[in-house]
Amino acid sequence: AANVDSEASSVSARTPPYSKLLRRLRAVRTLLPTRPLTLAEKILFSHLDNPEESLLEGTNNGADIRGNATLKLKPDRVAMQDASAQMALLQFMSCGLPATAVPASIHCDHMIVGEKGADVDLPNSITGNKEVYDFLESAAKKYGIEFWPPGAGIIHQAVLENYAAPGLMMLGTDSHTPNAGGLGAIAIGVGGADAVDALVDAPWELKAPKVRGVRLEGQLSGWASPKDVILNLAGRLTVRGGTGYIIEYTGPGVQSLSCTGMATICNMGAEMGATTSIFPFTPSSHVPYLRSTHRGSIADQAAAIASLPGPHNLLAADSGAEYDEEVVINLSELEPHVNGPFTPDLSTPLSKFKDAVRANHWPETFGAGLIGSCTNSSYADMTRCESLVKQASDAGLKPKADFFITPGSEQIRATVDRDGTMQTFEQAGGMVLANACGPCIGQWSRTDGVQKGEDNAIFTSYNRNFPGRNDGNRKTMNFLASPELVTAMSYSGRTDFNPMTDGIDLADGTKFRFNPPSGTDLPSAGFATGNPLFQPTPPTPDATVTIAIDPESDRLAVLEPFDPFPQGDLNGLKVLVKVKGQCTTDTISAAGPWLKYKGHLPNISENTLIGAVCADTGAVNTVLDVDGSSHTIPELASRWKSQGQTWLVVAEHNYGEGSAREHAALQPRYLGARIILAKSFARIHETNLKKQGVVPLTFANEADYDKMAGCDEVSTEGLYNVLQNGGSGEVNLLVKKSQSAEDFRVPVKFNLSKDQCGFILAGSALNLLSQRGKS
Ligand code: F3S
Repeated sequence: AANVDSEASSVSARTPPYSKLLRRLRAVRTLLPTRPLTLAEKILFSHLDNPEESLLEGTNNGADIRGNATLKLKPDRVAMQDASAQMALLQFMSCGLPATAVPASIHCDHMIVGEKGADVDLPNSITGNKEVYDFLESAAKKYGIEFWPPGAGIIHQAVLENYAAPGLMMLGTDSHTPNAGGLGAIAIGVGGADAVDALVDAPWELKAPKVRGVRLEGQLSGWASPKDVILNLAGRLTVRGGTGYIIEYTGPGVQSLSCTGMATICNMGAEMGATTSIFPFTPSSHVPYLRSTHRGSIADQAAAIASLPGPHNLLAADSGAEYDEEVVINLSELEPHVNGPFTPDLSTPLSKFKDAVRANHWPETFGAGLIGSCTNSSYADMTRCESLVKQASDAGLKPKADFFITPGSEQIRATVDRDGTMQTFEQAGGMVLANACGPCIGQWSRTDGVQKGEDNAIFTSYNRNFPGRNDGNRKTMNFLASPELVTAMSYSGRTDFNPMTDGIDLADGTKFRFNPPSGTDLPSAGFATGNPLFQPTPPTPDATVTIAIDPESDRLAVLEPFDPFPQGDLNGLKVLVKVKGQCTTDTISAAGPWLKYKGHLPNISENTLIGAVCADTGAVNTVLDVDGSSHTIPELASRWKSQGQTWLVVAEHNYGEGSAREHAALQPRYLGARIILAKSFARIHETNLKKQGVVPLTFANEADYDKMAGCDEVSTEGLYNVLQNGGSGEVNLLVKKSQSAEDFRVPVKFNLSKDQCGFILAGSALNLLSQRGKS
């Protein structure tokens, strides 16, 4: 009985505040009486702090909300992974509150290195990261945050299993937070400073996104999987196609998908820059998933809401809801896809991949196949892969490529272990890594002899494949595919193998052919809970706890406030680097071994922009100072910082794409950046820059990029005035060439809300929050 009671109380603490949300939705209806709403709008608007202000001001009285209105939102919950949680907590600490204002969780997943298998890697990583884990756990206990220890699982899988729910709105300090949209939640990836807004009960601002409808028709079968839906869509929309949009899935095909399949699809909406992605409440898959994860009462409440008349049904779009753009995918005709290398939107249908390998001179063999991660480690994924491994094992085959399995959570690991799936993988020679991010985030100690700088290929069921992402080798080509395809291809070890049509030679001279995979969405015996040590700490704040930070630490440092904006325009900034081509958050703040320094801003800043190609020198991480001396980018930035020289970066399109990593904004700011001038920005990164007091500006004429170079001197004309009120428009930069007496003006665009101007003038959002707290 005690267990039942404690389960009931933890479920009630994790249930979205449905009565409040339904009340707010009614209030929104009175403000917008005739406008049919999309599902995304219903959930977002029912989380508005002040619906009248957000929906009616500056929107032509509600007619022009999308892309225009500034939504001030009150999310229900916050989730943080251990790498980003450090900075979020360091920022939260400086606000001086006794507990978080909304429920929150911390997940220790990003700092565990994959090398020899979970049993060896996990204890090694716990020892290596002890001071960081101690810091996070002590802060969690003090502020009443649920702390999921290392080994418990990957944030997005743990969120799906425990916190995601239809109608919930949550923020997560990780760009794949939208994974929870698979269970009908609006879940948005943000930087730590944004998470702090929710943690201190300040409204969190979002420019009202447009909504892109993706209509699913037909039904998946054979080799096609949910991953192929998103790999196909990424190819169609590109890495910029989701910027400023929420992707909302509709249509009869939704009914045929599992909840975890929907999560995979939502997870990778981040690869297109989407604000988030969402599926409607789907009783056929959501109810069984909620029940099997011990949340039957949430399933009942969601089902009751779904039976309300259309306008009051929080969990489905209104009939006649209009989408800004629409795409149709026929699941019945969808074939498996392979995306990459080096960008997730280079999408090739499997039937054409062989030709693409030849045409592009990609390696014909690959060294490792990796399945699992936050994107693809569901029970369905694992059992479908198991069906393939069994077929191959029965034929006497072993994988030719190294084969790694990363379970997304202890719950999944324990369940597939109990059901024999894990043993099937291990007997086939697969290596089971810890329930953690591992190779997905560069925490991979490769032991197969591939050298840095050597061209090679890997196949993964992960979500991201920028250069250097997995093993720190920028020449490693990561081809993204479904876990089923990765598994089957690992048996051939060849990139030009098509398991739908090709066979593998057997010793007796015959050929082995795979049959299409088959699996089970949910375990018939329910999920196992696994190791009790991997359960979270309770969400009860304890003021007596002292937060563990060693003043001598090289991994944790208390944050010093940034200096405020000067009382006038910026003068004499210098261009630190003119970046050529793609500049992701990995480029600006590399992961891998650097994750270690996430809580120590001075130390991690030594990796700033080390992946960037300098347009002047043509080389990675090589820039010239005014005196002609050559430096790495962080060296020159530090040199200038010590001289009091502030600077800017000039860049091309989609600057800061890829992740919510706020260090990509914090580090340049710490080293002296005041402006990033780009052709365009990725949404989360642009917001992160403003929160840290850096001004993002875009070229009014993209051709002006060509006129600028490293060490050019830049002053703003009128920016200080703009910062008094915000808005959007143009100002000029006065550019003086470093190599000649020439000077010219460059018109640039700004887009700043009043609050964001406040952050910039105060030096950072945190400076402003602390000033408000003290006044
Ligand atoms: Fe971790 Fe990779 Fe997901 S880093 S959170 S497994 S995208």
